[in-house]
Amino acid sequence: MSAAVPFDLRVDDTLAAHVRQGLGDVESLLLETVHSDYSLLTEASEHLLNAGGKRFRPMLVLLAAQFGDPKAPGIVPAAVVLELTHLATLYHDDVMDEAPLRRGAASANSRWTNTVAILTGDYLFARASDLLADLGTDAVRIQARTFARLVRGQIQETVGVPEGGDELKHYLQVVADKTASLIATSGQFGAMLAGASPSVVDTLTSACEKIGVAFQLSDDILDVASESFQSGKTPGTDLREGVRTLPMLHVLGSAASDESRLRALLSGPITDDAEHAEALALLRAHPAMARARADTRQWAEDARAELLTLPDIPARQALTGLCDYVVSRTG
Ligand code: IPE
Ligand code: IPE
Ligand code: MG
Ligand code: MG
Repeated sequence: MSAAVPFDLRVDDTLAAHVRQGLGDVESLLLETVHSDYSLLTEASEHLLNAGGKRFRPMLVLLAAQFGDPKAPGIVPAAVVLELTHLATLYHDDVMDEAPLRRGAASANSRWTNTVAILTGDYLFARASDLLADLGTDAVRIQARTFARLVRGQIQETVGVPEGGDELKHYLQVVADKTASLIATSGQFGAMLAGASPSVVDTLTSACEKIGVAFQLSDDILDVASESFQSGKTPGTDLREGVRTLPMLHVLGSAASDESRLRALLSGPITDDAEHAEALALLRAHPAMARARADTRQWAEDARAELLTLPDIPARQALTGLCDYVVSRTG
């Protein structure tokens, strides 16, 4: 469930060794950082930490750091800060989305209560901030702004598009803010804390922002297309919550007249189990899915084009490989 990001170890032996070592160090520091003398906080934090997760953001930090000194002391703590921030948002997101399953395990809100899930998320933010304090004021400010973007994305998704607004534009803004923000900062922190040149830092930040948009588009496609055993989550959560994602927007925006049933079902949250199953089946079979996949591929291709302006080191090849992974992933 949520297997680690498949990193092609054949790219380069030295890079493979660095990344393997780095991810191991990240795991140790994650566990050390979430440990509390109050056992429920440790238990509730370790619950999802140990359940799996792809460690996509730490992987990006480690690969971006290859463009400078990958052994610089801030790299592993930065990767941990970003994974803990991400993990905290998952605790909160599952409360907001009323999601029962995460990383193939019961979500914290369903295993315990919303209160425990919210407070564990807050605790993880606090622990991340503690580590972040040692990375310098620039890093603190970047992360504060990143997190403000993320929260803005989540609240804009909840409120929905303003009356008369462009729904697709609103959706892409939400995706960029709630997800691409943290993924862009992963590239930025890796490069910046490794002492890469400002232009390399900028390129990696911008390319990772695009990877982040593709990553969320792919997540939204998986919410429709993927079964729990692949994603570790409950399919159709967006339909149930009335969150209109790209495949749904493509259905609603299409001119075809033979899909009035699906359009009607998409008009709001779907609470009835039979209607939910019906909407999911209709959406899975709809050409809008192929359109959404093509859009995702385009974002990944744009990211790849930007990455190809970087120095041709093995990490560049690994990062372009991640562009393919983001489009084709199944979990
Ligand atoms: C899930 O993120 C939430 C999104 C921003 C799409 P991931 O797909 O990275 O989740 P884990 O860490 O592997 O569980
Ligand atoms: C997750 O968005 C974004 C954040 C956690 C900030 P979703 O709600 O679409 O992600 P999943 O599908 O639950 O992982
Ligand atoms: Mg969710
Ligand atoms: Mg959500």
